[in-house]
Amino acid sequence: MENKNITMELPASGFQSFVEQAPILSTFLRPSSILLSVIVLFFTTSGLRKLFSGGRKGSPSELIGRPGDRDFHNALLEGYKKHPHSLFTIPTGHHPMTIIPTESLDEIKALPENILSFQKQVTARFLGKYTGLGVNDTLVHSVKVDLTKNIPRILGELEDEVGYSIGKHIGESQDWTPHPLYYMLTHLVALLSGRIFVGHPLSRDPTWLHATVRYTIDGFVGAEKLWMYPSILHPIMQYFIPEVRQVHSYLSNGAKMLGPIINDRQGKQVKKGDRTDMIQWIIDNSDPKDKGNVDYVTKTQMLISVVAIHTTTMTMSQTIFDLLAHPEYIDILREEIKSVKPTDEEPWTKSKIAGLRKMDSFMKESQRFRPPGLVTMNRQVEQPIELKNGLVLPKGAHIGVAAGSNALDPALFPHPEEFDGLRFLKLRDQPGNENMYQFVTTGPDQLHWGVGTHACPGRFFASYEIKMLLSKILMDYDIKLADGATQRPADIAIDIRVVPNPQAQVAFKKREVPW
Ligand code: HEM
Repeated sequence: MENKNITMELPASGFQSFVEQAPILSTFLRPSSILLSVIVLFFTTSGLRKLFSGGRKGSPSELIGRPGDRDFHNALLEGYKKHPHSLFTIPTGHHPMTIIPTESLDEIKALPENILSFQKQVTARFLGKYTGLGVNDTLVHSVKVDLTKNIPRILGELEDEVGYSIGKHIGESQDWTPHPLYYMLTHLVALLSGRIFVGHPLSRDPTWLHATVRYTIDGFVGAEKLWMYPSILHPIMQYFIPEVRQVHSYLSNGAKMLGPIINDRQGKQVKKGDRTDMIQWIIDNSDPKDKGNVDYVTKTQMLISVVAIHTTTMTMSQTIFDLLAHPEYIDILREEIKSVKPTDEEPWTKSKIAGLRKMDSFMKESQRFRPPGLVTMNRQVEQPIELKNGLVLPKGAHIGVAAGSNALDPALFPHPEEFDGLRFLKLRDQPGNENMYQFVTTGPDQLHWGVGTHACPGRFFASYEIKMLLSKILMDYDIKLADGATQRPADIAIDIRVVPNPQAQVAFKKREVPW
């Protein structure tokens, strides 16, 4: 299956405003990058042969795609088809990636960090030593256990923030008013997440919000720019790359803002479970030496924003673009919302949100087509691994599974190229499947959240955020593509990422009879 009409190349000119909103993309566009790219290419291709001798003993895995390619969607589809039982490698920049067959998932999904490392892979890929990007155990535990467990208790705060954020960023206009969708949703998601991560009023502080939204972008761009130099120069170049310097200022300013709150909580007898915010969960879950360490708690906070904000925004943007491409679903979803929560004033509860089964299915179908990442289960091999079928993963390799191609596999999803917003609802309606095929379900045919030990622990929270925001938007506003556009905005393909078009404008008009 070809990658037709799904993605677009980056615009060659006139991309200033585009770049302002998605500066990570600008890295690839600057003329001065060309020479550096050649250097990078040299390092990458020579590194390839050394790194990727994985495969059956002694035989290399096939290299599919060319170093320097901007989009590996088709390479992944080709490799997935050709290698259902063997490895292939895509030459993604600086860390070529060996794709393992889905049949081997069970063998790797629970391997410990000292054999197959998620955290080392993130740090290596995004140069965490300089950008601070990474994942730590405190963060994972706080999301996996505390955030998820507390969802019923935080729904009221989330609902309050839904009203505030939509009022602030979409407003009351009864005339069609265009908004850059991605940019606007980033702010909604940052406000909702911040409300639970640091609490009000800090969550609405513009400086804090700016830092939590920008840390991801500047961290990623900073890493990409650093990668344009050989590793030996990274310790020096970090001081010359504005984005890398910028992430340090987010951390130090963040520490100034969070410091008084963290200090105030030291030594106070807070009963575990009393406070429903991420600051407290991080303090509770930190080693004793880190509990009062403002820098550690702040950095962990920032990293949670990194994993939470843009991932959720991308997913929600794609869902709205899909609704606009298939507007017949808008009234179907409105009716469902009304059936589980007849008035705006009624509070959301966990069971009411569970009643949004059509919305859940629609979101999952949207994610099936356009996940933020085409490869998940990204890991760095720490010790050579021999799989049951004889495949060998060499130490140092970066591996992953082709989640995007798996989601388009006709053996798993009949007519995979057709968008069927109720596809997963129909699957759930089959006897015995009631709790399967939900937006948050993971499995060998549902790889977009990863599977096993590191499967995204924030997916439940993300699902609630999106459903609450989307319900309010659909009930309170009519929506359409702005500027007379008739085509679904094309995604931006970068490497193994799928970025919803950050330039696309969506027009909103307050409905006269909401709810
Ligand atoms: C729709 C939005 C999201 C998507 C698509 C997404 C996707 C992912 C994926 C693919 C992984 C890697 C899984 C693996 O390799 O096995 C991951 C890990 C992670 N995600 Fe999410 N995520 C989302 C939202 C969130 C949110 C809202 C949070 C926090 C509140 C979060 C926290 C994390 C954490 C902490 C990890 C690392 C888990 C670990 O190391 O064990 N994510 N996410």
